[in-house]
Amino acid sequence: MSLKEQIDIKKLPRHVAIIMDGNGRWAKQQGEQRTFGHKNGVTAVREVTEAAAELGVEYLTLYAFSTENWNRPRNEIDALMDLLINTMNVELKTLNENDIRLSAIGDLKSLPTKCYDNLMQTIEATKDNKRMTLVLALSYSAKWEMTQAIQKIASKVKEGTLSKEDISEDVISDHLCTKDMPEPELLIRTSGENRISNFLLWQIAYSELYFTKTLWPEFDKEEFYTALIDYQKRERRFGNVPENLSSTDHA
Ligand code: IPE
Ligand code: IPE
Ligand code: MG
Repeated sequence: MSLKEQIDIKKLPRHVAIIMDGNGRWAKQQGEQRTFGHKNGVTAVREVTEAAAELGVEYLTLYAFSTENWNRPRNEIDALMDLLINTMNVELKTLNENDIRLSAIGDLKSLPTKCYDNLMQTIEATKDNKRMTLVLALSYSAKWEMTQAIQKIASKVKEGTLSKEDISEDVISDHLCTKDMPEPELLIRTSGENRISNFLLWQIAYSELYFTKTLWPEFDKEEFYTALIDYQKRERRFGNVPENLSSTDHA
């Protein structure tokens, strides 16, 4: 039985989030510059997006650039921003053909103007697509996201449109960039690093974590299926005891 056939479609996560890591190390292994790794990382993005959409995953969130990544050398940042613009231009047709909506989370206003404008145009051009939402985390960090959420909530309390007692988990979720999305049931990180690097801290409170040593440019559909199969073998208890779980809670 192929890996794809081993996946139980009824227990598919609605939302998968991925920390795409290892482009630089992969390039180094090939005796190339780091930017060569980023270019080849686009192939993996294409593979995983296609695999997720084909299976019926509703949301795929990809960590593409963190707020900390602004500390990288200027030439690497420029190359990443150019690659983003280029990829959006090339892939727009494919996104529409495959009924995939593009969305983005993060401090988007901090992106270079050309990049921001291009992103907004691609989001607008795909907004009616229904099969899957592909979310790019750009200039994103969870601490930035939570800080801006707290600022917005504090302003509402000050204005008198929200009372302190009404600040609930749902209210906090509603002020995050992910407000219209389910929380990811599965978080994947490539490249063998076992850390979260400031990604979706609130939203992954109960996510299943999957770490693989594969470097991002080598991540493909089969690797994605392997992660899903691993996820489907797990028992999600949410603090409860096994005897108390309904069959729908397992994945
Ligand atoms: C991930 O690969 C891509 C981005 C963070 C933009 P890296 O560039 O972090 O590659 P490594 O971790 O140095 O190998
Ligand atoms: C996390 O990878 C950010 C992205 C994948 C965009 P990094 O390579 O920047 O994270 P660290 O430095 O390993 O924590
Ligand atoms: Mg890295």
